[in-house]
Order: sequence, then C-alpha cells, then structure tokens
Amino acid sequence: MRISVIGCGYLGAVHAAAMADLGHEVIAIDVDDAKIALLSAGKTPFYEPGLPEILTTSLASGRLSFTTDISLAKGSNVHFIAVGTPQSADSNAADMRFVNAAVTALIPHLSDSDLVVGKSTVPVGTAARLQEMIATSGSAAALAWNPEFLREGHAVTDTISPDRLVYGVAPGPRKDAAVSTLNAVYATAIAAETPVVVTDLATAELVKIAANSFLATKISFINAMSEITDAVGANITELADAIGYDNRIGRRFLNAGVGFGGGCLPKDIRAFVARAEELGRGESVAFLSEMDAINKRQRTRVANLVLGAAASVDVELTSARVAVLGLAFKPLSDDVRDSPALDVALKLNALGADVIAYDPEANGPARLRFPALVTAETLDEVLTGADVIVLVTEWPEFIALDPERVAGLVSHRAIVDARNVLDADRWRAAGFTFVGMGRP
Ligand code: UGA
Repeated sequence: MRISVIGCGYLGAVHAAAMADLGHEVIAIDVDDAKIALLSAGKTPFYEPGLPEILTTSLASGRLSFTTDISLAKGSNVHFIAVGTPQSADSNAADMRFVNAAVTALIPHLSDSDLVVGKSTVPVGTAARLQEMIATSGSAAALAWNPEFLREGHAVTDTISPDRLVYGVAPGPRKDAAVSTLNAVYATAIAAETPVVVTDLATAELVKIAANSFLATKISFINAMSEITDAVGANITELADAIGYDNRIGRRFLNAGVGFGGGCLPKDIRAFVARAEELGRGESVAFLSEMDAINKRQRTRVANLVLGAAASVDVELTSARVAVLGLAFKPLSDDVRDSPALDVALKLNALGADVIAYDPEANGPARLRFPALVTAETLDEVLTGADVIVLVTEWPEFIALDPERVAGLVSHRAIVDARNVLDADRWRAAGFTFVGMGRP
C-alpha cells in the first residue's frame, strides 16, 4: 500500500519508518527542511532506540522517502496526519495550528477514494470538523481517527506491535471501506491477533485522551500517597507493591517520584480540561487539574529534599555543588519537553545552588533550551566534587552506580533518589545521607 505520513516528529518519523518496515511504500512529509535533510540521510533528529536501524533499512529498500513537497502525497491511498498538538502559548488548550495547516495543505492533493487518518492527539470534535473541511473543499475523501499509544523510548516496538488498534470511523457508506483499508495497513499486527476496537470518531479521539488522563491520574495518585507516607515514615514502594498485586489496580505506573513530564501527559490533561469546559462539562474532569497540581508539587518537593540533604552534610544550598543525574523526562529518551528533571535543575539553579547536570542523551536538547545550564560530559565528571547528588531520571547507568566508588568522587555524601530506584541500604552503608520520596 502507498502511504503518506504528514509530520516527522516523534510520532510521524517513527510511524513512517515502521510502516515502511512492514512493507508499505511510504512518503513522509514535513515543513522543516533541516529535519527532512537529516532523515533523508538516515539520521534521526531525536534519540529513539531502534529507529536508526529501521530508518536505514527502509531508506535502502527504496520503500521510504522524505520530502517537504506535500504534492507528493498525491497517489497515496492513506494519508496519516501525525503533526504535533502542543499546549497553546496563552492557554491550556491544544494548539491546533499544525493539524489545520496539514489538512489544508493536503486537501488539493486528495483523490476521492483516499482515506485521511488522524493520529495526533486532538480535542474531541476535531475529526468531525476536519471531515467537514475536506467535504467543503469538494473532495470526497474519507476521514478516520486512529490514535497512537506509543511510548517514547519504546516507540518502534509499540508501533509495529501495538497492544490494541482503535479505528474511529464515521457511519455511512464509506465505513466498511475505511475499516478494510486500516486492516490492510495494520495487516501484520492483525495477523498477530492484536485487538481492534472499531468505534465512532469522537470515541476514538476520547480513547486517547482518556488513556493518558488515566495514566497521569495513576502517577499523581501514588505521588499523593507518597506525601502521606513521608509524613508518617511509611514506605511508598512497599505500599505500591502491595496494592499492585490486586489485578484491578495493577503495579504499573505506580512508581512514586518526581512525577510525569514529556510532550504528552501534562499537555493532554490540560487540553482535556480546556475542551471539557468548552463543552460545558468542566466539572467532569476538574479532578485532572488537581492531578496536574499534585504533579507540579513533586518538582518543588524534590528541590526541598535537596535543600534538606545539603543541610544534613552541613552545606548551605547557595554554596552547594549539586549533581543532577538526568535531564530527559524519562530514560531512553532525549526529550526535555516539560521534563521534571530539567525543571528540578532549573529550580535548584534559581535557589542559588551550583548545579551541574548530566544526561546520557539529553544534555544537548537541554542546553538548546537553557544555554546557561552547566552540563558534564561524563557521569564521573558530574559526580566529582558534588556536595549533593539528585537522581531525577532513572537511566540504567545511574541505577547501577556503585555507592563505594561514588563516595570516592564526591565532596560530601548526600543523595536524593527522586525516582525511588536506588538501594537505600547500600548507599547508607557507604556513608551517604539517603533521601527517597515517601520511603525511609
Ligand atoms: C505517554 C503514554 O504512556 C503513551 O501511551 C502515549 O502514546 C504517549 O504518552 C502520547 O500521548 O504520545 P510517553 O509520554 O512516551 O507516553 O511517556 P510515559 O512512559 O507514559 O511516561 C510519562 C511520564 O510519567 C514520564 O515522565 C515518566 O517518568 C512518568 N512516570 C511513569 C512516573 O513518574 N511514574 C510511573 O510509574 C510511570
């Protein structure tokens, strides 16, 4: 099948390469010349494990090409809209400029038998509006909504082997054809018995936003519990293990710590609240604003824990060298959008600490946003001379640190584990003041 993918960010670049890897002929389109030049040369503009490999093989096979020329979408049977929907600069609502621009640019190149497929996370009602836009232009092309559930860091496997497929299709004579087309696109996953939910456009849009809202709520729930365990000296990790054994609850996404960030969860819950308010149903999701507030509070909480850790080794924060381990919003990613780690580094900087940060992949992206941020080139460099260490992104190499060896590098032995991933006993045995989040 010939497929076009519009937008070559985290979502689109992975989707395009994965579709080509599955055997489709793919033309991937973006307005950013530099990004297209990079991808055409087989280089990825961001860190995503597995992407360079499928990019290289798909380009070599001739099944994948990149362009800034949207007219080359013509001739594809399916056109995926995979552009970003960031938070608006002046409100909590999603900024729909890129989606609107992509569809407007695509319309003149559509044939009547084509299927436009939305993948971006959008406010409910967007798909119906875009279908109307297409119809008003005189095109008979159909539109479906097929939300994406990939996680950064696992994007390639999540795209090739998703845990479910959701097709939002409008009722009417084109419905069956749209479902068949999507089944052909995802033939490999369907052969592997991936569940498919066929539903209407609005439900498909809501599935995505509800899933991310639920995940955000789960994380904020456990972080709220960790504030309570902190108050009474109880243990949040053991609490999460114990409630997680209940299959109705489940252990995943119950890791307390500095909270969620990235380009999806924070902006999606805010956009959902904004959209629900527009629909006159603000109270239905008002709890999500509380989840956002709990989440933001964790970043301040970590900065305060660092302050306390510095005091415990008799160092004033204003003269403390703080080694920040991590800048990406999560491991296996170089994404610093709304990153709790970066936020903590900046907060500590603002409090007057001498901050030096290190991330295996995100030093560059973080410095691009904040050129004044001091970063180390290696893990040993960031640790050397530190008065307090704070682990904010749980990269495997941070978890694997040997406390005895670290003790030989630092000036003072104090560590805040803002992801609850270290063995407290081992660090204490090496002479460290050890501070977790909601656990002794
Ligand atoms: C999230 C969803 O998990 C994907 O299903 C969805 O497709 C994607 O958003 C999207 O909308 O595009 P992602 O942003 O890549 O994926 O990251 P997650 O793995 O969900 O992690 C989000 C944040 O939550 C990270 O900062 C992570 O450190 C944090 N987190 C996660 C916790 O603080 N505790 C946990 O127990 C789990």
